[in-house]
Amino acid sequence: MGFLSDALSRIKPSATIVITQKARDLKAQGRDVISLSVGEPDFDTPDNIKEAAIAAIRRGETKYTPVSGIVPLREAISRKFKRENGLDYKPSQTIVSTGGKHVIYNALLATLNPGDEVIIPAPYWVSYPEMVVLCGGKPVFVDCTMEHNFKLQPEPLERAITPKTKWIILNSPSNPTGAAYSRAEMKAITDVLMRHPHVWVLTDDMYEHLTYGDFEFVTPAQVEPNLYERTLTMNGVSKAYAMTGWRIGYAGGPQHLINAMDFVQGQQTSGTSAISQWAAVEALDGPQDHLPRFRKAFEERRDLVVSMLNQAKGLKCPMPEGAFYVYPSCAEAIGKTAPSGKVLETDEDFVSELLEAEGVAAVHGSSFGLGPNFRISYATSNAALEDACNRIQRFCGSLR
Ligand SMILES: Cc1ncc(COP(=O)(O)O)c(C=O)c1O
Repeated sequence: MGFLSDALSRIKPSATIVITQKARDLKAQGRDVISLSVGEPDFDTPDNIKEAAIAAIRRGETKYTPVSGIVPLREAISRKFKRENGLDYKPSQTIVSTGGKHVIYNALLATLNPGDEVIIPAPYWVSYPEMVVLCGGKPVFVDCTMEHNFKLQPEPLERAITPKTKWIILNSPSNPTGAAYSRAEMKAITDVLMRHPHVWVLTDDMYEHLTYGDFEFVTPAQVEPNLYERTLTMNGVSKAYAMTGWRIGYAGGPQHLINAMDFVQGQQTSGTSAISQWAAVEALDGPQDHLPRFRKAFEERRDLVVSMLNQAKGLKCPMPEGAFYVYPSCAEAIGKTAPSGKVLETDEDFVSELLEAEGVAAVHGSSFGLGPNFRISYATSNAALEDACNRIQRFCGSLR
């Protein structure tokens, strides 16, 4: 009998974490490396949020909290959903967990039985399939090609639904592509879901506030109110408030689902950090004036990166609507030879030779379920991005 569980052999390590670590190791050896692999804003948490956390510590808010979160935070979440999304979730219909990732994990753990299917549009955030598998479910992928700007189309979605489908996970704006659904595009998806009343919707709205130009963010239960009873609307403070390390995610949903998630969480973490929860109250209720600043910086960087990557020989980089990622195709580089003499057979070879030759760390598309592409996170300074894109251009130009 082995010591480690069988479940462990069914999941893969996160490619993003592996590559970020490889870049760190190379840097530690003295190599000049620019890491574009990590998915977190380079901005600091706004001061008013930090001050709220410090004040909470001083007040002695340092004990266990109710499992689903402190009442002031659940009230702030309820107000946020109403104000920004037009959704009515009572505070009791919300739950706070240790990051958005934990919210999703709890929802799946509370609902999946062996063999239940979860539809995941590909390319996807690396953690979705692994969480589904860990909870005993079966991921069902639907390819969303570059031709359709990496967005799920109604017909392939309809074909993927079976009597065993329990959930579909939607993520707009998307990690890894930055693609976001307009109201009409989202309606086309919700129209399909309306025909299949047994399918639940888990919407990951983590990048809600990071959209550019005049793009209007929408969430499924807002576009199709008839889906409200079978939608879990998940969000968090990690990306929009530069709070990745505080570990706060939350969701609103039907009462019986939230109760089930509370039940799971009660035997798991007993709720997340009290101090972070008080900081999140300030994030949601306090001034939002950092957001235009974040958005402006990200939009400038997106434009810079898309333009420079499209000037690299053989790369094609669509312009995404949101998040802080681009997902260029490196199809034309496949089959060519890198300066090291290695023939590039996959997008993984492409990113690994790019790191070797030019010290730029990116993540290969096949780890997100659709390639040959690679993901660049542009949540870093303009100077570093310009330097990195010049190196990518040089690398692409050197392929023979
Ligand atoms: C699409 C998406 N959902 C959820 C998360 C997780 O957020 P958190 O750090 O709050 O767990 C991430 C983080 O990378 C993400 O990209």
